[in-house]
Amino acid sequence: MKIFVLKESREKENRVALTPTVASQFIKQGYTCLIEKDAGYNSNFSNESYQQAGCQIINKSEGFALADIIIKVNAPTDEEISAMKTGTILISYMYHLFNPELVKKMAQAGISAFSMDAMPRISRAQSMDALSSQNNLAGYKAVILGADALGKIFPLMMTAAGTITPARVLIFGAGVAGLQAVATAKRLGAIVEVTDVRPETKEQVESLGGKFIEVKAEGVKVEGGYAKEVSADYLAKQKEAVNKSIAQADLVITTALVAGKKAPVLITEEQVGLMKLGSVIVDMAVEQGGNCALSEMDKTVVKNGVTIVGKCNLPSSLAQNASELYAKNIYNFLTHLSNKDGMKWEMDEEITTGTLITHQNKIVHPSLQQATA
Ligand code: NAI
Repeated sequence: MKIFVLKESREKENRVALTPTVASQFIKQGYTCLIEKDAGYNSNFSNESYQQAGCQIINKSEGFALADIIIKVNAPTDEEISAMKTGTILISYMYHLFNPELVKKMAQAGISAFSMDAMPRISRAQSMDALSSQNNLAGYKAVILGADALGKIFPLMMTAAGTITPARVLIFGAGVAGLQAVATAKRLGAIVEVTDVRPETKEQVESLGGKFIEVKAEGVKVEGGYAKEVSADYLAKQKEAVNKSIAQADLVITTALVAGKKAPVLITEEQVGLMKLGSVIVDMAVEQGGNCALSEMDKTVVKNGVTIVGKCNLPSSLAQNASELYAKNIYNFLTHLSNKDGMKWEMDEEITTGTLITHQNKIVHPSLQQATA
């Protein structure tokens, strides 16, 4: 089967869906790897490095014509969909629940579309889970961005000129990104506090050396490991519980998401007003509406002496590692979906049903069938 790797067309996207190392693994399995010219350049993978791995460098129109499988990071554009042949298999992020038009167009074009962001959160899919591999890097980068914007260091430092006290970092949300942020901030020597609505995260935070802020309230619905609903009463009690920590924090990192919904606002304008002069907020949820009321998409703003970083697409700023991990996720996924004779199309298998959005001109994902039923 022929795999074609498109150069990403989304603005400021540096990642690529396949690296030379992973391409050579595909080639060993009998796949042909076709790479659009310069697709890997912004992730530091040259055309020559792909050729040395056994790939062919081709232009876009040749790729669309030859491809059995197209792999990408971001969802396809309308132009890309119209260039694909009927029956093309496409693997990328799609956020199908938020993009009904995209789903409709892919079905009409006869594309078999697998969405990486729909990967079931089960143990055997962990090596294919791009949300985890990318959010893990994003959690690291959020701490680095915060540290850079801060006018003080993280660790306790005793010097002849005096003692510097450690920075205090407060993290909202202890999912994949939040836990990596805890680990990174601890490694740099900060005192780290964390709030999350899922009670099981307490132990995870403590095992990384963080302090968990307990909220004594009901009203959280957790389903399949995800926060599905958080009541207004819980949010009010949480606000009360974290206010002291907000006022003491040098850096606040917010990662809190609620599945299928806009991100909850957890830091209001009034709470920003409680923060110290020179403190920093990094709002990792800015693309989902933001956890801080004052954050702005892809901007760094200063409000009341507090720097609020709203940088989007943090994995793209670590494009080399992010592409390496994404490519490995794709390799594990495609190896799972296929064998030497081609795609297996196991339509009752959990990873296939969880990720296949459109197939044979139909919208097949269970969540969309329920929505349209
Ligand atoms: P996410 O990105 O959906 O959300 C981030 C965090 O925000 C979550 O921990 C959530 O509980 C928290 N949150 C929501 N509302 C909040 C509020 N009001 N205040 C504070 N925190 C709030 O989470 P992610 O990282 O995608 O993980 C979701 C689940 O999936 C977790 O249970 C995780 O352990 C599980 N998981 C399982 C995997 C597997 O088995 N293959 C792989 C990765 C994650």
